[in-house]
Amino acid sequence: MKALISDIHSNLEALQAVLADIAQHSVEAIYCLGDVIGYGPNPRECLDRIMECDIVLLGNHDQAVLFDPMNFNPVAERATMWTRSQLDRPLPTRAAADSRWEYLSERPMKHREGDILLVHGSPRNPLNEYIFPEDIYHETKMRSIFAQVPRYQFQGHTHIPGIFTESLEFFSPDEIEYEYQLDGRKTLCNVGSVGQPRDTDNRACYVLLDGNTIRFRRVEYDLETTIAKIREIDELDNFLGERLRGGR
Ligand SMILES: [Fe+2]
Repeated sequence: MKALISDIHSNLEALQAVLADIAQHSVEAIYCLGDVIGYGPNPRECLDRIMECDIVLLGNHDQAVLFDPMNFNPVAERATMWTRSQLDRPLPTRAAADSRWEYLSERPMKHREGDILLVHGSPRNPLNEYIFPEDIYHETKMRSIFAQVPRYQFQGHTHIPGIFTESLEFFSPDEIEYEYQLDGRKTLCNVGSVGQPRDTDNRACYVLLDGNTIRFRRVEYDLETTIAKIREIDELDNFLGERLRGGR
């Protein structure tokens, strides 16, 4: 069994809760689809844990911290610059800081394993393109995306979990009782977000893949601790904490 996680966004409490949930299952590999950092209060701590995962892709926020934020709103841009300053701190050593930067800079944008493609956003634009549930009504866009998918694709980026079928239907996890059987037809699965869910469910989200069975997991975590940490950091807008309560 594999665990697929994405969009941790420096939320250590959510990441720890998800890793504890993963440890309850016989998971042999953890794949992370990017956006380990950005927005939240614990970039170093999250990165240190994620560096132990088997595959870790680059997300747009990881890239923005490495290079420069492009097309970010002022709140996200400020959080990006603060995150960069935190990764520059030699904690606990200069070598530790250097190895985090080196690790980030080496992240791939895609990973293909048999008939499974992993991306942060989409195969057309792995870092930045969103595939939203309402895109099922954008037939041209979805046909073009499906044409680039070997059979199955797992992605993050929107922070909205669910299944997209090639017949252009979208199923949220609760509509399918948190479980979906892959049946050979092309399918996209958004694994949701660990650290900043935006589907109005404030629990951390990730996916277990066991053969052809996808299981969406929702994990409660101590979000008030995360919110309090964000409130203490001037460069992180309070909204970044407040939004965690409503999962939006
Ligand atoms: Fe993200």
